[in-house]
Amino acid sequence: MGSYATSFLNDLKLPLVVETKNVKNFAETIECIQAEKRELRESILKYGGILLRGFPIEGADEFNEVIDALGLGRPIQYIGGDTPRDRVKGEVYTSTEAPPSLMIPLHNEMSFIKHYPRHIYFHCVTPSETGGETAIGDARAIYQTVAPSVRDRFAEKRLSYISNFYKKNLVLDTINKYCRAHKTWMDAFQTDDKEEVERRCLANEFKFAWRPKDWLRVTYEMPAVIDHPETGEKVWFNQAHLYDYNRRLLGFWNWVGAKFVYAKKERVMHEIYFGDGTKVPKEDLYHVMDVLEKKTIKFPWQKGDVMVLDNVLTMHGRASFTGKRKILASLTR
Ligand SMILES: [Fe+2]
Repeated sequence: MGSYATSFLNDLKLPLVVETKNVKNFAETIECIQAEKRELRESILKYGGILLRGFPIEGADEFNEVIDALGLGRPIQYIGGDTPRDRVKGEVYTSTEAPPSLMIPLHNEMSFIKHYPRHIYFHCVTPSETGGETAIGDARAIYQTVAPSVRDRFAEKRLSYISNFYKKNLVLDTINKYCRAHKTWMDAFQTDDKEEVERRCLANEFKFAWRPKDWLRVTYEMPAVIDHPETGEKVWFNQAHLYDYNRRLLGFWNWVGAKFVYAKKERVMHEIYFGDGTKVPKEDLYHVMDVLEKKTIKFPWQKGDVMVLDNVLTMHGRASFTGKRKILASLTR
């Protein structure tokens, strides 16, 4: 490895840190990535993710070029996604715009869809003043740590995720002005054409139903445990715990607020069921959250960092934060 040095930030060896030895400008960064592409890809598969640090990478365009140079897959649109994001350029988005006070537990990105992203990329434009680390965790170790009874139940029954997207609603629009907590279907599917939404649902094998006031209910059916498509390793691959809006996920006051706002008849939040239509017990979800918490590695950003994760091997999340924070994200398949 001529042009970079490797190290780890922790004993768990996630991510592998790749630091430049002699790269001076962006053109050389791309040359280095292209030259070492094979080794970098192998490292991602072995460790679950790599962190490119110290390379002169800045902004959405350069981030895009780095993704391109790695050649791990084709960029995919964030269609049907459950978290609020802004499109920056092409298929580069802001990482979640969920309220800064909210801690987002580990999850595999879009593990509720059949054509899930194989890799997720992050680029730090502005680190937060305090907190705001990206949390990461080894999905192989998480699979091993979840209690066998829970693991078997999830594996056997599979999951049915439901997202309710609204169209126009004074209360939700007002909430969104202060904290981006909800998505319209126009936002989730990046179009205001209903037929186009239907086409995209069909193409992605989502079940959908139009609801009163032009709201949209989308059901995603997926396994909770999968074998890694390349290595065959068993991994915990789901985000059931993010689809039950409970006190532990939201924090007490947000949970009280949610109870008040969502007391109406039309559901505006996520719902989670097993594939057979039975409810996923809260105790199971809380147990999974305990495991995820135990296995969370907090990763503090430095300006210019690019992190590449195998989205099946490595879960990610976000710590709460203060100050401005700008982390870009992109997905490939
Ligand atoms: Fe995510």
